[in-house]
Amino acid sequence: MLVTLVISLLAFLSDGAVGQGPITATGTNFTLTGDGVSYLFHVDRFSGDLVSDHFGGRATDFTPPAAIYQGGWSDGLTNTRREFPDVGRSDFRLPAIHIQHESGSTVSEFLYQTHKVVEGKPPLPGLPSTYGNESDVSTLIVNLYDNYSDISAVLSYSIFPRENAIARSFQIINNGTSQITIERAASFSADLPNLDLDMIEIHGDWAHEFNRVNRKIDYGETTFRSTEGYSSHIHNPFFALVSPSTTETSGEAWGFNLLYTGSFQATAERFSHGFIRVLLGLNPLHTNIPLKPGETFTSPEAVSVYSSTGIGGMSRSFHDLYRNHLSRSNYTHQIRPILLNSWEGLGFEINQTSLVSLAGEAEELGVQLFVMDDGWFGVEYPRNNDSLGLGDWTPNPAKFPDGLRPFVQQVNNYTVLNTSTPLQFGIWVEPEMVDPNSTLYHEHPDWVLHSDRYQRTLTRNQLVLNVGLPEVQEFIISTISSIIDAANIQYIKWDNNRGMHEMSRPSDDYSYMLGLYRVIDNLTTAYPNILWEGCASGGGRFDAGLLHYWPQHWTSDNTDASNRLTIQMGTSLVYPPSAMSCHVSAIPNGLTHRNISIEYRAHVALMCGSFGFELNPSELSTEEGSAIPSIMEEARKINPIVISGSFYRLAIPDTSNWPAAQFVSSAGDQAVVFAFQQQATVKPAPPPLKMQGLDPSASYRNNVDNGTYSGATYMNAGINLQWETRDYQSKTIWLYRQ
Ligand SMILES: *[C@@H]1O[C@H](CO)[C@@H](O)[C@H](O)[C@H]1NC(C)=O
Ligand SMILES: *[C@@H]1O[C@H](CO)[C@@H](O)[C@H](O)[C@H]1NC(C)=O
Ligand SMILES: *[C@@H]1O[C@H](CO)[C@@H](O)[C@H](O)[C@H]1NC(C)=O
Ligand SMILES: *[C@@H]1O[C@H](CO)[C@@H](O)[C@H](O)[C@H]1NC(C)=O
Ligand SMILES: *[C@@H]1O[C@H](CO)[C@@H](O)[C@H](O)[C@H]1NC(C)=O
Ligand SMILES: *[C@@H]1O[C@H](CO)[C@@H](O)[C@H](O)[C@H]1NC(C)=O
Ligand SMILES: *[C@@H]1O[C@H](CO)[C@@H](O)[C@H](O)[C@H]1NC(C)=O
Ligand SMILES: *[C@@H]1O[C@H](CO)[C@@H](O)[C@H](O)[C@H]1NC(C)=O
Ligand SMILES: *[C@@H]1O[C@H](CO)[C@@H](O)[C@H](O)[C@H]1NC(C)=O
Ligand SMILES: *[C@@H]1O[C@H](CO)[C@@H](O)[C@H](O)[C@H]1NC(C)=O
Ligand SMILES: *[C@@H]1O[C@H](CO)[C@@H](O)[C@H](O)[C@H]1NC(C)=O
Ligand SMILES: *[C@@H]1O[C@H](CO)[C@@H](O)[C@H](O)[C@H]1NC(C)=O
Repeated sequence: MLVTLVISLLAFLSDGAVGQGPITATGTNFTLTGDGVSYLFHVDRFSGDLVSDHFGGRATDFTPPAAIYQGGWSDGLTNTRREFPDVGRSDFRLPAIHIQHESGSTVSEFLYQTHKVVEGKPPLPGLPSTYGNESDVSTLIVNLYDNYSDISAVLSYSIFPRENAIARSFQIINNGTSQITIERAASFSADLPNLDLDMIEIHGDWAHEFNRVNRKIDYGETTFRSTEGYSSHIHNPFFALVSPSTTETSGEAWGFNLLYTGSFQATAERFSHGFIRVLLGLNPLHTNIPLKPGETFTSPEAVSVYSSTGIGGMSRSFHDLYRNHLSRSNYTHQIRPILLNSWEGLGFEINQTSLVSLAGEAEELGVQLFVMDDGWFGVEYPRNNDSLGLGDWTPNPAKFPDGLRPFVQQVNNYTVLNTSTPLQFGIWVEPEMVDPNSTLYHEHPDWVLHSDRYQRTLTRNQLVLNVGLPEVQEFIISTISSIIDAANIQYIKWDNNRGMHEMSRPSDDYSYMLGLYRVIDNLTTAYPNILWEGCASGGGRFDAGLLHYWPQHWTSDNTDASNRLTIQMGTSLVYPPSAMSCHVSAIPNGLTHRNISIEYRAHVALMCGSFGFELNPSELSTEEGSAIPSIMEEARKINPIVISGSFYRLAIPDTSNWPAAQFVSSAGDQAVVFAFQQQATVKPAPPPLKMQGLDPSASYRNNVDNGTYSGATYMNAGINLQWETRDYQSKTIWLYRQ
């Protein structure tokens, strides 16, 4: 204790700036500065509390805080901007950390002890996180201590200067003599000044993911959460705060995203003085995490991106950060194979014969990867429908008399059209789930999440395995490994089709996630050449936690191309299009019964990193069939730009009948615009299509009127597209830099 006091005293007294590069510590005034962002906070020299000074555009001087009238009940810490708010001691707002001591008391006092700056970024033990080397990221680690209870809090702040991103997480180390319980843990907490701000959030449901909604941050709490046990379709662990005047291309935006797959809570709390406290972390209903003496709790990581170039600038920072410093997969920067998935074409009607014949049709389309979906497994309980078999990951002998290997050899025996490359094979699994009608459940009824003798409520006839249990983790690792080892498998679609209901303890959700990350880390490390795709009844787990391990996620079970456009535009607020998986399905659409041309369906799906088909090719009309070769040719041209280019939303379907989006290649030599007309209209005329992200002084030739115009012309005047008076029209427009 003496040693640390001396260190803190020295830190207060020292005036010299310590640390070069993005992080400066002048005494205990901390400055994190990127290309277009500054994040400033300091230690209050009298109390030892951490005080927020600035989070926004570049500003590196410490200036006096807002003068707040001191009087009435709201005084002390309630009137300050805090970095790591705890419970008690005069702050009436929601805390970032709430600990219950063994005595039942909930007060804590985390005060500054020491700090250090490290280049690069230490990994988070057992949790997904952003990463980078010393030229990509710098990290400030601040140690706080509660000397009444002997609990230490280690706060980590990493800055990615090029992406204008700050990544935060913290650890709580119980150095006391009794057990404590973590009741709340917000990975990111920031107190913004009295600004007029709106929240943009993406909410939805199954087949209705990622709908954008705006609301004013008013007095009290503006909050949303997931209690589904997973990040879920209902809300995504993302929100942006924007000025009311912020647009897609201008104004301030702060984006916040939790790198976590479990239940979460997001809150913006405006107090009487107008300050806005932002909190993003675990959902307190699913926290209650016990910590014995000597144990450490690690919070998930949260990332915030600041943009002064509107919502689009914020999205592109997230896209760059996640492609370069989050997703660890070999495939993140690679073009993805065009696939055909058996689900919407065959459903459960699969066996070796029907699949080999479907693979033959896939070959004729020019597909590169053939994927067998649900229905292939179950011996005692054959998976002929969704009421049985889940958990029994052995090929059904009636469907695959000789097992998987010879069947996969037959698929590999086909070649990709016009090449000698074998058709690749991929498989569907749902490893975290079990049907009561299964051998696994009869052998291990205690492996599922349940609460004593209460009823185990079913969704889709299935229960959730408790992946927090080491024996369940071992089971999943060994079954998935044996599937991969049994045949030549190049792709795995990892599905998860229900939320969590009964848990024996609220903290089961957090231990489940630690277990799940352990399992996925193990399998992706052991099999780096598998292309892994996440799925959770569509986008139910489209989150940055899983994107750390897997390069792509199925975006929605809704494949109606018009609905999908809204869903994908919403997803792109935070997640890169290169991480989205999107397929062309048959018409009339199974959900909406809408008939949309194959071109429009393909154009919507081609805006994603993983493009494919989910239909029975033999049921395509002649007209659809004849469009396939040019779609395939366009797919080969577009995919590299989607994988590594920059994405711009030109107009969104929420507000325009003519939505459009643009990708600019990473070299800047090409751009492709996807333009759509939703409803046929007589009047008004479509607005000019104004592009973004071009070099204003460069010339670009286009393939619409073959004209060559300046980037400034395309961006400021735009070009006019000719639309037929029909619903659901689409075009791709190419620009080539001259
Ligand atoms: C830290 O910033 C405060 C203003 O918040 C200033 O008064 C103080 O002198 C600064 N300390 C150092 C060591 O620069
Ligand atoms: C850091 O990683 C980047 C790629 O993100 C690479 O270009 C650079 O050479 C690396 N620098 C060092 C010092 O390893
Ligand atoms: C440590 O705790 C004691 C009470 O246990 C308190 O008097 C003291 O001020 C605290 N020290 C610091 C540095 O906060
Ligand atoms: C508390 O910290 C001290 C010094 O680091 C260490 O020796 C001791 O074992 C810790 N106690 C617990 C319960 O972790
Ligand atoms: C994938 O990564 C592993 C090591 O992480 C490497 O051995 C392998 O060659 C890579 N595969 C591809 C296709 O890049
Ligand atoms: C395979 O499935 C198809 C379609 O359901 C069915 O017609 C056929 O009889 C099945 N073949 C075998 C060997 O089960
Ligand atoms: C295959 O070759 C034919 C004839 O050259 C061509 O028309 C077609 O576009 C090619 N298809 C693919 C997928 O390469
Ligand atoms: C599901 O499949 C099983 C096994 O083939 C069969 O007994 C059962 O009737 C089917 N259930 C439904 C709802 O189709
Ligand atoms: C078990 O399977 C049978 C046959 O498909 C079905 O009738 C029953 O509903 C299933 N039970 C559950 C709990 O899903
Ligand atoms: C692959 O195709 C060749 C030539 O058509 C055939 O002789 C061979 O039996 C096939 N192998 C499998 C596993 O289907
Ligand atoms: C994966 O887990 C298995 C079983 O626990 C273990 O034997 C293996 O070493 C692990 N592999 C990796 C890459 O972590
Ligand atoms: C543009 O040029 C291409 C090929 O040079 C030609 O086929 C097309 O008709 C031209 N389009 C217009 C609108 O001039």
